[in-house]
Amino acid sequence: MPPTLATIVYLIAAVLFILSLGGLSRQETARRGTWCGIIGMLLALATSIASDDVNLYTTAALAMAPAAIIGAFLAARVQMTGMPQLVALLHSFVGAAAVLVGFASYLEPHTIDGIALAGADLLVHHIEVYVGVGVGSITFTGSVIACLKLHGTMSGRPLLLPGRHFLNLIALLATIVIGVICVQTGDTQHGIVLLCIATVITGLLGVHMVMAIGGADMPVVVSMLNSYSGWAAAAAGFMLGNDLLIITGALVGSSGAILSMIMCRGMNRSLANVIFGGFGTADSGPSTAAAGEQGEVQSIDADSAAAMMQHASSVVIVPGYGMAVAQAQHALAEVTRLLREGGVHVRFAIHPVAGRLPGHMNVLLAEADIPYDIVLEMDEINDDLPDTDVVLVIGANDIVNPSAENDPASPIAGMPVLQVWNSGTVIVMKRSMGTGYAGVGNPLFFNDNTRMLFGDARDNTDAMLAALRG
Ligand code: TAP
Repeated sequence: MPPTLATIVYLIAAVLFILSLGGLSRQETARRGTWCGIIGMLLALATSIASDDVNLYTTAALAMAPAAIIGAFLAARVQMTGMPQLVALLHSFVGAAAVLVGFASYLEPHTIDGIALAGADLLVHHIEVYVGVGVGSITFTGSVIACLKLHGTMSGRPLLLPGRHFLNLIALLATIVIGVICVQTGDTQHGIVLLCIATVITGLLGVHMVMAIGGADMPVVVSMLNSYSGWAAAAAGFMLGNDLLIITGALVGSSGAILSMIMCRGMNRSLANVIFGGFGTADSGPSTAAAGEQGEVQSIDADSAAAMMQHASSVVIVPGYGMAVAQAQHALAEVTRLLREGGVHVRFAIHPVAGRLPGHMNVLLAEADIPYDIVLEMDEINDDLPDTDVVLVIGANDIVNPSAENDPASPIAGMPVLQVWNSGTVIVMKRSMGTGYAGVGNPLFFNDNTRMLFGDARDNTDAMLAALRG
């Protein structure tokens, strides 16, 4: 393919990626956004394969075909609850790719118009390689650890080594010093040894940084690694002289960084506090308020819960991770439809870190065709909760925990939550008195206006549906 045509197609793909991100920012346009992304990626892949840079077609096919089959198989099989691990694993691939491209590019730098790089051009190229390999290595090891933590293979408890900040600083300084020597050395063999040492150091840095982050902060870590993977891809783009990879990497890198900031705001934390804080141990146990707040809980059955909602004038539904586990969204959509037909004002309240993925609840509600206009963000609905008759909490826990507001000793202290306790009655649907992701007890369950509807969220929603139909 002529290079000019390739540049034009790359430009079209870049525009499609921008449209994709724009579309994905709103539920109404998310489907269109996804299609823009798919078409952009297909164009980019086809153009790369058809470009003059690729001539080993058999090698490319041997690498791509099994990868495409494995990817399609994994994506088709993965449950929504397993998505965070899969996303973390995919980030690790981007990191590994940046490291491999870096090594290949160091050993055989690309040429400009057939002329080998020299002087300042070669120095800049070596800097690109060094930065790309470093960011890629941190992304790779950090994402693998994040994946293991999210999968539960590794404890969510933060590893707080003595002098850990000092260790990080030493690793960073060593990386910079080795980098200065590496990019200036004229000896490729010496350079490759230094590059290997830097890869190991930055890899260990990635392991240490993510190991030190507690379970409750994993949402921010996942979006941060998303951002790193974007910068790693952009660095690979610089190494390969590929403009589309640079644009795409910058889009992913900056949107991941913005998402991390939104997540931090949702948890009322600063990014530095998340990275250096070691907050939110998964095994931290009940907070002081939760531990002291014992007593009787009041249970309710599905029939009474359905009747209570049917006779309310306003109901707010708060979905959480348990709804995703139980796959209760379709039955819940039917309950919502029947209540609305009966004249009840029903709305959904979405916490920014509900579930295990950014937008996790929005995806499930959209999948069940729940109208977008009744799905509200936490900030939009918190002030309406005192005027709400019934709140139905379905498989949520941390995001409705009052100790985040009134117990400074709680591991989730300061995280903004949905103030469901201000409503008339709160019905909490979960299987037991067990804790949520942050491992913190929840005093909400013991409130006078709380009724516990124990059992699987799907079974109980089905039972409520039957009661409403009856
Ligand atoms: P959680 O606090 O994790 O609570 C979920 C609750 O669902 C559990 O207490 C569990 O109680 C219940 N549950 C599980 N399976 C159920 C089933 N089949 N039927 C009924 N209930 C079921 O969830 P949340 O309130 O959505 O809060 C999210 C938490 O995850 C936050 O701590 C957040 O920081 C963290 N996190 C979020 C993300 C993102 S990006 N959203 C990523 C990683 C971590 P039982 O066992 O008693 O049933």
